[in-house]
Amino acid sequence: MRAARFHARNDIRIEDIPEPELRPGTVAIDVAWCGICGTDLHEYLEGPIFVPPAGHPHPISGESAPVTMGHEFSGTITHLGEGVTDLNVGQNVVVEPYIIAEDVDTSPGQSYQLSKDMNFIGLGGHGGGLSEKIVVQRRWVHPIGDIPLDQAALIEPLSVAHHAATRSGAAAGQTAIVGGAGPIGLLTAAVLKAKGLTVFISELSEARKAMAESTGVADEVFDPRESDVAESVRQRTDGKGADVGFECSSVPAVLDMLIDATRPGGVIVNVSIWGHRPEVDLPSLVLKEIDLRGTIGYAGDHPETIRLVSEGTIDLSAFITARIGLDALITGGFDELIDNNEHHVKIIVNPRA
Ligand SMILES: NC(=O)c1ccc[n+]([C@@H]2O[C@H](COP(=O)([O-])OP(=O)(O)OC[C@H]3O[C@@H](n4cnc5c(N)ncnc54)[C@H](O)[C@@H]3O)[C@@H](O)[C@H]2O)c1
Ligand SMILES: [Zn+2]
Repeated sequence: MRAARFHARNDIRIEDIPEPELRPGTVAIDVAWCGICGTDLHEYLEGPIFVPPAGHPHPISGESAPVTMGHEFSGTITHLGEGVTDLNVGQNVVVEPYIIAEDVDTSPGQSYQLSKDMNFIGLGGHGGGLSEKIVVQRRWVHPIGDIPLDQAALIEPLSVAHHAATRSGAAAGQTAIVGGAGPIGLLTAAVLKAKGLTVFISELSEARKAMAESTGVADEVFDPRESDVAESVRQRTDGKGADVGFECSSVPAVLDMLIDATRPGGVIVNVSIWGHRPEVDLPSLVLKEIDLRGTIGYAGDHPETIRLVSEGTIDLSAFITARIGLDALITGGFDELIDNNEHHVKIIVNPRA
């Protein structure tokens, strides 16, 4: 079967590799669509980061580069391994793409995303969504009912957003400020709107500002080149500031703006994965007793994000800006996101096309 494999920085190849084998307790899936994520771009341009470099096998997967890429994918079940009795062949599903030690409890309520040596399918081994077929453990498979398979490829980043929103403790009736309207910022805003918050977004790119408005995920969009974003937020909150802030840009000026725009006693969730250590305005953070929190991946978020999409509360189709086949992965996918990032949100790949 064909698969996109990460060999080294700037070296991703479309190759023919053996089909994965069905084992007891696993599920075989024909991949329908797989999204390209900022993390994939980081691996391509600056990696390996999550990918275990050649000669340094991952402690759980036992694999190192080359590995198959793709962690945001949907597909259809083709075979069930021995002992899997609660799913059906032909069912459409998404995969929660974790590589987590066998003995870690991944039942509801457990913080399994924080377990030792956690990594992701499509980065740390165990196959990936940028291939025609994949076999995964039963515990990572989530049926999606009648959600279209293209939209379902965005359930994974939506689950990142949902986890971030949950980490903030945000409640209906509160106000949020989201810094950065890339895929993660837009989807975080979508979850916050679905939870009944008033949502403000700060963004520079014209296309992304327009998308934040046209999709209705933001009540108002600010451009930091045109106005003082924190002041605009205060004007709309009786001088208080936002209850919760979300850093989704990995730009230090955005973190500064969030500390300014969030009310005393508020919460800022840092979603960005920083390539460098930012300076943080701790003096202001201290005087305002702001809680600055991290968030990574998801844990038990998929059932809720699947429900939000299947009930029509969140429409993911609006965030898909291109569809390509596997052969166009570099030119129409990675290069496009590198050179034309602001005109895209999510590019999805059909690995069978
Ligand atoms: N914590 C997690 O589990 C997790 C999971 C996935 C992605 N991430 C991280 O989330 C971050 C966002 O991902 P993405 O794919 O949306 O990134 P992205 O680069 O596509 O989006 C960032 C956005 O910030 C905007 N921006 C830049 N400077 C700005 C400024 N001064 N003011 C306002 N906006 C500004 C950019 O125009 C861009 O639209 C990345 O760091 C990514 O690695 C984290
Ligand atoms: Zn991702």
